[in-house]
Amino acid sequence: MTDSNKLEKFATDNQIEGLTEPSLKALMEKKTGYTIDKAKKFLSFQQRINEKLLKHPVITCNDYCRWFEQGNQNKAQVREFVVQFSVFSNLFLIAQLHKTINADTLEGMHASKEILANEIGVIFNAKKTPGAIADNSNTGENPDIVSTEGSVEGGQFRFKAAHFEWLYRMAQKLGLEFTDIGKRRHGTESTLFYCDELTRIYGNEDYLTSQAASYAVENWAAAGFWDQLVAGFEKFNDTREIKLPLGFFTWHALIETQHAAHTQEELEELYFERKIDEDKFIHDGNEMLDGVATFWDGLDIQRKRLTS
Ligand SMILES: [Fe+2]
Repeated sequence: MTDSNKLEKFATDNQIEGLTEPSLKALMEKKTGYTIDKAKKFLSFQQRINEKLLKHPVITCNDYCRWFEQGNQNKAQVREFVVQFSVFSNLFLIAQLHKTINADTLEGMHASKEILANEIGVIFNAKKTPGAIADNSNTGENPDIVSTEGSVEGGQFRFKAAHFEWLYRMAQKLGLEFTDIGKRRHGTESTLFYCDELTRIYGNEDYLTSQAASYAVENWAAAGFWDQLVAGFEKFNDTREIKLPLGFFTWHALIETQHAAHTQEELEELYFERKIDEDKFIHDGNEMLDGVATFWDGLDIQRKRLTS
């Protein structure tokens, strides 16, 4: 019997089908905190999450992204979209820094720093060997060839690998200057509300609040909005004389498919190893998604105004 067959049989015998492999393994090994009783409680919690959190409209029907995907946007609409995204991209650093500072374990702090350092320009070192020098092709100028895997540990810093700079290069093609993007003053009320909610909930001092927000945000991202944006931009590029460099969006679409696989494992680990207030988790997650929805709804209102 293979290992995964053994896990499957263990799950069926104990009526705990639906858990990820790492959790089943930990249960078999009777790791601290991992009991069959808790596993069953988790599965009913998961059902509540599916019903009460993952059906949030921003996950199930994002009007703006649906429209964007069609590729019928005019230049003014694309320009405004890039401006709002640049504000989000910069202000996200604040939320991520809060998350880093408020981490309650060194491991958690490292995980947050991975994201923060990568955002500002440390290229993931795909070799995962501390101290190793990243591949020379990883210049950072072209997000299409910058690794989406590995760790910032031993990775190289390049100004040009900052995600904001990828967006800046795109903005330049649209006739925008450095002073036209990325600042708080460029954000609409709804963009700023979203960014402030990220700092307040995702960067919360309470670790479980911040984890609930992370889980919600990851599930929103995994629902495919990056792919919709890429599809829309590709159509835009095909039919216009300007060719926008899409690296910022294609890179994020790619990294998201990897994140999605870990999101569920992380939630289970959190459930078995911590004491979760289930109602609060669902409440915090929804509050975060309301913030996300405000951002997209704001973009939707703005693009309707810019119809020519
Ligand atoms: Fe990013």
